[in-house]
Amino acid sequence: MILVTGGAGYIGSHTCVELINAGHKVVIVDNFCNSDPSVVESIRDITGKDVVCVDADVRDKDKLLSVFKDYDISAVVHFAGHKAVGESVSKPLSYYQNNLDSTLTLCEVMDMQGVRTLIFSSSATVYDPSNDMPLVESATLGCTNPYGWTKLMNEQILRDLATANESWSIVSLRYFNPIGAHESGKIGERPSGIPNNLMPYITQVAAGVRDKLHVFGNDYPTADGTGVRDYIHVVDLAQGHVRALEYAQESRGAQSINLGSGTGCSVLQIIHAFEQATGITIPYVIDPRRPGDIAVCFADTSKAKQLLNWQTQLDINQMCEDAWRFESQS
Ligand code: NAD
Ligand code: UD1
Repeated sequence: MILVTGGAGYIGSHTCVELINAGHKVVIVDNFCNSDPSVVESIRDITGKDVVCVDADVRDKDKLLSVFKDYDISAVVHFAGHKAVGESVSKPLSYYQNNLDSTLTLCEVMDMQGVRTLIFSSSATVYDPSNDMPLVESATLGCTNPYGWTKLMNEQILRDLATANESWSIVSLRYFNPIGAHESGKIGERPSGIPNNLMPYITQVAAGVRDKLHVFGNDYPTADGTGVRDYIHVVDLAQGHVRALEYAQESRGAQSINLGSGTGCSVLQIIHAFEQATGITIPYVIDPRRPGDIAVCFADTSKAKQLLNWQTQLDINQMCEDAWRFESQS
């Protein structure tokens, strides 16, 4: 069985579906601090298969040990953690506590139980903003906020672990900008409060929850002046985890691998793609740049192609259609 920590969350739930579709059995550990138990039922609905779910904090060592004793776990995909950049600036201790302690406790328990295959959720935010594009895995690392530092520190801990004991096999996946939802419309991204990220904000404008989108800056050195990012459909991302798991099961050591589409898309391009995919007009205003934002960010994806034999399949149009289906059905 594959243990999926944070498996009721946005990326975790889609990954559970793809793991099950690929023939794996899954046990989720989630404390539902940023998700709802009903997501587990939706995973069962989509796959028609049973999913075990344990309501527990990954930092609870005794509970985690009992999960390893109750189920025959061969590998772990570790999503559990806090993820809001802005909140990490105002609550650094909570971020370092949850994001570091969860990995330390998990790895300690895995080591005790002799399970040493791990896929970790990292982020493109570990790259120093001064790098040239596209970002290759060997680019300079460095962060501008506590959330980013937790990802970089986690990657370092995992590299050190693989150096200390060569039976570990660890892949840190550096995600670019996951958007979209499962085509069934049953699972997707449900941010609490005002969305920080572009696509959830757009879908809420489309649903009439918010009046208009605020475009953060149109004076960047890009084709239309708005920020450019590497958007990736969450289902492609989930399938990348299945490939990474298969790769990790056949190899040893620690690797960091980008998961992105390899192409950039501007804010205005996303708005137009959404309008085209859904037939809904998105009113917007141009606001000043958001502090901390960079102009352009996209991945070099050759390492994922080479090591995982993986690349994205789904385009921006599909991402917009699926994001809207989820928003409008919920
Ligand atoms: P999410 O918040 O939807 O999912 C995280 C899940 O982990 C939630 O279900 C939450 O309840 C659970 N959780 C958090 N702390 C826990 C703990 N201590 N014990 C048990 N469960 C806990 O986030 P997501 O968007 O699915 O992201 C998953 C991972 O990917 C996170 O580590 C995030 O930092 C990383 N990541 C996300 C993005 C993104 O854009 N969504 C980008 C890069 C990296
Ligand atoms: C965010 C995170 C980053 C994380 C990444 C992928 C912040 C500051 N950074 O970055 O750490 O790795 O997501 O999950 O949160 N935009 C608008 N209006 C909005 C929202 C966004 O114009 O209401 C623009 C932004 O300026 C940017 C683009 O849309 O150009 C994408 O923004 P967002 O979805 O927040 O992603 P990132 O900025 O890449």
